[in-house]
Amino acid sequence: MKAVVCRSYGSPDVLKIEEVEKPTVTEDGVLVRVHASSVNPAEWYSMVGLLIARGVNGLFKPKDPRIGADFAGIVEAVGSKVTHLNPGDEVYGGRNGAFAEYVNVVNAVVCKPANVSFEEAAAVPTAAITALQGLRDHGKIQAGQKVLINGAAGGVGTFAVQIAKSFGAEVTGVTSTKNVEMIRSLGADHVIDYTKDDFTQSGQRYDLLFDIAGNRTWKEYKRVLASTANFVIVGAKKGNPIIGPLSHVVKIKLAAIGASQKISFFIAQFTREDLSILRDIIEAGKVKPVVEKVYPLAQVAEAMRHLGTGHARGKLVLKMK
Ligand SMILES: NC(=O)c1ccc[n+]([C@@H]2O[C@H](COP(=O)([O-])OP(=O)(O)OC[C@H]3O[C@@H](n4cnc5c(N)ncnc54)[C@H](OP(=O)(O)O)[C@@H]3O)[C@@H](O)[C@H]2O)c1
Repeated sequence: MKAVVCRSYGSPDVLKIEEVEKPTVTEDGVLVRVHASSVNPAEWYSMVGLLIARGVNGLFKPKDPRIGADFAGIVEAVGSKVTHLNPGDEVYGGRNGAFAEYVNVVNAVVCKPANVSFEEAAAVPTAAITALQGLRDHGKIQAGQKVLINGAAGGVGTFAVQIAKSFGAEVTGVTSTKNVEMIRSLGADHVIDYTKDDFTQSGQRYDLLFDIAGNRTWKEYKRVLASTANFVIVGAKKGNPIIGPLSHVVKIKLAAIGASQKISFFIAQFTREDLSILRDIIEAGKVKPVVEKVYPLAQVAEAMRHLGTGHARGKLVLKMK
C-alpha cells in the first residue's frame, strides 16, 4: 500500500510516499481503508524532531517512519474480538500512521458522522477532541460563561468556537482580519481582530480563556481573567526547537505561581466516547468541520508547508485517491 513516511528529521521535503506493507487486522483491531486524513501541528513536531522527543522517537532519525493520526474511511475487516463495527461501516478516528491507504485501529474508531463527507470527517478527530476535552474537562465550561478563544481560526479554534457555543457560552474569538466573518459565521458572539485591537487591553474579564495561539505573557493574560477563571493553555507558537510549545507553558506556569486562577495544560487523548459525542453533535448540526483545502496525498509536503505558516484556515485535509 502507499503511505507517507518520514525517514529523517527536517522540513516538509523529508516526507516521501513509499510502497509499504499493508497492515493485517489483529484480533482486537479494525482494518480501515483510509479515504482521507488531515494534518495537525503534532505531525509538524514529529517531522522536525523536537529535541525533547528524540529520546523516545529516535535521536538522529525517527524510529517509526509512519506519520499522521486522523483518518476517515471504510472498514475492510474486523478482528474476532470486535463487536462494535462491521466490514463496510463508514468510520473515523485516530491512529499513528494514518497518512496511508490502510490502518489497523484497536481503540479510537467509531462510525463517522453520516451528514459529512470523508474529507470533512477526517478533519475532526485531533482538532475537535482537543477543543472538546480542553473546554469541557480542563476549562469546566458552563452555560452563560464568557469564554475567550485566542487563535479561533485554525483547526482547534474553529471547533472550539462551535463547541463552546453548543455548551451555551458567550464566545469571543480572536483572529486576523481575513477570518473575522468566518468566525462570526461559526456562531461567535464577538470577534476581535488582532491586527487592529489587543484583546488584553479590552477591559473585559473572561471566565474561561482557551489559549490556542499561546503568544502573550502572563502579565497580559492576567488583565482579562476573572479572579476565579480557568485558563487552559492548548498550544503556542512553533518557535522553540528544543521543547517547542512547552517553553510557553513553563513560562506561564512559573510567572503565575500564587495566582487565584486555575491554569492547565493538557494533551488530548483519542477516546471512542469523545469521537461518538463529536459525531452526535455534528449530526445534530451544532458543529461543522471547516476545511480550507483538500490536497491529494502526493501533495502532503505542500499541505505541511501551509500548516507550518501558522495561518491555516480551519483544517487541511489529505485525500488518498
Ligand atoms: N494540547 C493538545 O493536546 C493539542 C492538540 C492539538 C493542537 N495543539 C496545539 O494547538 C495549537 C493550534 O493547533 P491547530 O491545529 O489549531 O493549528 P493551526 O490550524 O495551524 O492554527 C492556525 C491558526 O492560528 C491562528 N493564529 C496565528 N497567529 C495568531 C495570533 N497571533 N492570534 C490569534 N490567532 C492566531 C491563525 O489565524 P490567523 O490566520 O487569523 O492569524 C490560524 O487560523 C498548536 O500549537 C498545536 O500544537 C495542542
